[in-house]
Amino acid sequence: MQSVKERILALKKEKNAVILAHNYTSPEVQDIADYVGDSLGLSQKAAATDADIIVFCGVSFMGETAKILSPSKKVLLPEPEAKCAMAAMCSAEQIRQAKERYPDATVVAYVNTAAETKTAVDYCCTSANALNVVKQIPNDRILFVPDSNLGRYVKEQSGKDIILWNGFCPVHQCVTVRQVEELKKAHPGAEVVAHPECRLEVLNNADFIGSTEAILKYCQKSDCREFIVLTESGMGHRLEGACPGKRFYFTAQSLCMTMKMISLESILECMEKETGEIILDREVIEKAYLPVKRMTDILG
Ligand code: 13P
Ligand code: SF4
Repeated sequence: MQSVKERILALKKEKNAVILAHNYTSPEVQDIADYVGDSLGLSQKAAATDADIIVFCGVSFMGETAKILSPSKKVLLPEPEAKCAMAAMCSAEQIRQAKERYPDATVVAYVNTAAETKTAVDYCCTSANALNVVKQIPNDRILFVPDSNLGRYVKEQSGKDIILWNGFCPVHQCVTVRQVEELKKAHPGAEVVAHPECRLEVLNNADFIGSTEAILKYCQKSDCREFIVLTESGMGHRLEGACPGKRFYFTAQSLCMTMKMISLESILECMEKETGEIILDREVIEKAYLPVKRMTDILG
């Protein structure tokens, strides 16, 4: 009798499917994926794949972005109810109302937004390119949604007049300066690496700030052997695999529970029955594609 893993691998071949997984998914999910990465890397893989089916192991906005970039492919979510709490903090209607209040502002949406929300914005960005996208926009006045922490960080770094939304990621919002200080006391030789979804006072304690994939590259290159990692603890699996012999410390409770909903069993079920398909209106896909395309165009 075949194991769950063997059945997934067999179905992958049979159905010409590719499995993409975010850095926060569980180790067994990462290990079966064809590609593991950050939001930007995953969207690039989704856009470039010649597979017929994309099995997206991540939260729903990530699968929707894959569908926006590859509308002719079947995109399946093993856990359609795995959603990003921050993405729920900003709707298209709220943006339309905000635009009336700030008619001179260019609206930049973090990729952690629903497809429908993306239809109402000018530019998209990810944690890997938010600062560059904002710097390149030929307008100093920006409405940045939904992450107030990433927005504040970009505001500090770019010096632009950035209007902040009141969204946040519950996982990164819970990281405190006190926790960082305690970890630093316990591991005095460690470097501090942080995701820009952390609060600004936390980021001010970091030696490096970047997307999940940028954090991984930094830790690989650094001569340091120990790191305090201020992001979701699923990163530990990738970091340990990519940086043998180095040690990584996380703050307590740094778990994105919806990412952890995805299991080998839910992947197998969705591949067998082709359930959890992302269905978006053609109009939503076309309108949501524009800010995503502007993001890549503006960076050249
Ligand atoms: P990355 O694009 O840096 O992987 O971040 C996605 C995310 O949801 C972080 O919480
Ligand atoms: Fe969303 Fe936060 Fe989970 Fe990232 S860690 S997917 S921002 S809830």
